[in-house]
Amino acid sequence: MLLSKMSLPLKKLQGYEFYQNVLNDAKFILAPMVDQSEYAWRILSRRYGAQVCYTPMIHAKMFCDESNKQYRSDIWSTGKDDRPLIVQFCANDAEILLKASLKIQNQCDAIDLNLGCPQHIAKRGHYGSFLQDEWDLIYKLINTLHENLSIPVTAKIRVFPEVEKTIRYAKMIESAGAQLLTVHGRERQQKGHKTGLADWEQIRQVKEALKIPVIANGNILYFEDIHRCLDATSADGVMSAEGNLYNPAIFSGINPPVWQMAKEYLEICRTVPTKISYIRGHLFKIYRPALPFHVDLREQLAKVNTLDEICALSEKLQERLMKTAKESSVDSKIHKDENGFKIFPHWICQPCIRPPIKENEQTENSANT
Ligand SMILES: Cc1cc2nc3c(=O)[nH]c(=O)nc-3n(C[C@H](O)[C@H](O)[C@H](O)COP(=O)(O)O)c2cc1C
Repeated sequence: MLLSKMSLPLKKLQGYEFYQNVLNDAKFILAPMVDQSEYAWRILSRRYGAQVCYTPMIHAKMFCDESNKQYRSDIWSTGKDDRPLIVQFCANDAEILLKASLKIQNQCDAIDLNLGCPQHIAKRGHYGSFLQDEWDLIYKLINTLHENLSIPVTAKIRVFPEVEKTIRYAKMIESAGAQLLTVHGRERQQKGHKTGLADWEQIRQVKEALKIPVIANGNILYFEDIHRCLDATSADGVMSAEGNLYNPAIFSGINPPVWQMAKEYLEICRTVPTKISYIRGHLFKIYRPALPFHVDLREQLAKVNTLDEICALSEKLQERLMKTAKESSVDSKIHKDENGFKIFPHWICQPCIRPPIKENEQTENSANT
């Protein structure tokens, strides 16, 4: 029933028309992040330069489950300042994906299909990157949204080892009706300790082969990397996940003090109800460089259960860090380590640098989605 074509607005914006008129030619894009790209975080990220934001991945079937209202209210919240917004679903059933998308299409600008999640939970649930060999199914999922929604459908993929296959894959997704494609330049097994580098050359070749806008994702530690990535891939925009979590101001080209970002985020959380576990997760990341110097507060942060407690703890840490910063003789010049990574004092927002991959390391570690 749902799959019979519905009446659509006369003209639905496509490809570059959509990208220019609705996404405002965005260059800086906040990634979908489970438990972390929630409404409060999107407000902060937009304040510091994110031009388009994605929601965390939403499980389409659970979203449609009328007996699980808790899931929907935990995962979905937005407001009038929260645009342009792309809602990301994972799904393996076109009818369920359409049903979920129809519930939300009036409150966002596009629906994205997650084809990149490499985690065990995605393998068990049969979604994300574990669909990447089922091209007929992917075609059907995307085409169903393309034919039946009033807003565009987009997709986020990982790459295959062979660039020719990635290009064929991307073209199939485009032919199904996707109006924008995000390419995370890592393969499915590149996760956890095996994350390694994203392949910008694959992204460049996909971009060259497609007519729709392409967003590049992977290897962004600093603001300068965004421009290097745009130059190297000719992508239309760049998406950041981890870089943004450790420095929510990454898109503005500044590395502010950790306490400033924590304070602003907590103030937003006072006005926008946010799950405590999300807030705690954010503070662990913002304060990451500082916490090893304040182990007592790190332990407390793991235990606090209310926003008031978190704010009090954050203020205590802020006091200590401001004192250290004031007394410090660190000069304002940015120094680099032997690998070329910038060295910041521990009270400054900075990227989390992964150790290089060791030979014969296991692939099956916990991972990014
Ligand atoms: C905490 C966290 C949660 C993530 N959740 C999602 C998700 O819900 N959907 C998705 O497509 N990718 C998800 N990812 C992957 C990112 O969107 C992104 O593709 C990946 O982290 C590579 O980008 P980066 O190098 O900027 O971190 C997640 C990543 C992180 C770190």
